[in-house]
Amino acid sequence: MRVALGVGGGIAAYKSAELARALAERGAQVQVIMTAAAREFVRPLTFAALTGRKVVTDLFPASSESEALASAVEHIGVAQSNDLLVVAPATADLMAKFAHGLADDFLTTLYLAFPGPVLLAPAMNTNMWRHPATQANLELLRGRGHAIIGPEEGELACGMTGPGRMAEPAAIAAAAVNLLNRKRDLEGETVLVTAGPTREPLDPVRFISNRSSGKMGYALAEAAAARGANVILIAGPVHLPDPPGVKTIKVQTAQEMRDAVFANLEPATIVIKAAAVADYHVANVPQQKLKKTAARISIELDPTPDILAELGQKKGDRLLIGFAAETENLRQEARRKLLTKNCDMIVANLVGQEENAGFESDTNEVVLLLATGSTVSVPPSPKREVADRILDEALKLRLALHAAR
Ligand code: C5P
Repeated sequence: MRVALGVGGGIAAYKSAELARALAERGAQVQVIMTAAAREFVRPLTFAALTGRKVVTDLFPASSESEALASAVEHIGVAQSNDLLVVAPATADLMAKFAHGLADDFLTTLYLAFPGPVLLAPAMNTNMWRHPATQANLELLRGRGHAIIGPEEGELACGMTGPGRMAEPAAIAAAAVNLLNRKRDLEGETVLVTAGPTREPLDPVRFISNRSSGKMGYALAEAAAARGANVILIAGPVHLPDPPGVKTIKVQTAQEMRDAVFANLEPATIVIKAAAVADYHVANVPQQKLKKTAARISIELDPTPDILAELGQKKGDRLLIGFAAETENLRQEARRKLLTKNCDMIVANLVGQEENAGFESDTNEVVLLLATGSTVSVPPSPKREVADRILDEALKLRLALHAAR
């Protein structure tokens, strides 16, 4: 395993020396690239000694023309000869440059030229981390499929307490190894994922919807694509960028989602219904906006098609995974849905209570109920990690179900 380790200019740069060693201990050949700011914190010699390799520092460091030319294309060589790019610490400045494609030094140029997986370990002051600019950049980088580890909460070098500490070197090294070992174990599969809420119109300007952000379904689509699956994502109205390499179909209502699901079902081998589909809608939406009066009004709602239940009847030998978002009696309700909707797995999560789980959160805590009768608890984790656990269990489950038949 060959790892390019980019070191940004932050106090956490000293921890990256330990990271370089941890990676080397796991058998990696490590090529360190330091930004100019990083060299203010740690000397390149430290990294050179730990990795046994010259550290790359400048884009045009040479004195002669021919040396300058060689170094001008060196980033392409580094991009092509490494399996993984780890950036630790990823400063706010580096994240901004990566997010927007600015390339004014070796590391940012390497980032653009690098075709493989990228792991970022952000570290910065709490206010910088929370700034909308940094958070927007983070979303862009996540949306591009990069793995992000940390930052952790704690006391920072600037004296503040909050999120901003770089993840521990051992954890970053483990994440790097995981990324590289990730099997392309979904090659040949077609995974159909639904995500987000649906929007049921009340009149031409109003609608009923719910708080689903679509993040869990999008994480599933991204994770499945990264593992080699052909992915079809059918999404209600969400504010998320289309995942790269995924066929994304946008819908509004439950009926439109149903039609899109069945129009795309044929090639699917795994169907994951992460969408929070509205259960009711107005059957005959008025052509004109409802007028305001002083009187109380009531609106008649009819049930929407239950897409998951219909899929349960028509799934053939596809693996069918549903979601159950409950505010109470989680396992009991989820078990009931597993049976009544003829699913192979239900991903159950409690919503409306914890801050770090459910609809709008970046993390989730779920229990997987399997058709074999067993349950798997997934501790609070980023939605992308939860997605990978769901896919791991789906593959195991299929083997178990085949063996049982
Ligand atoms: O019964 P409940 O709506 O709680 O079940 C949730 C599961 O059913 C989710 O997987 C959701 O995508 C799916 N569902 C559906 N069509 C509906 C309602 C829910 O496919 N009309």
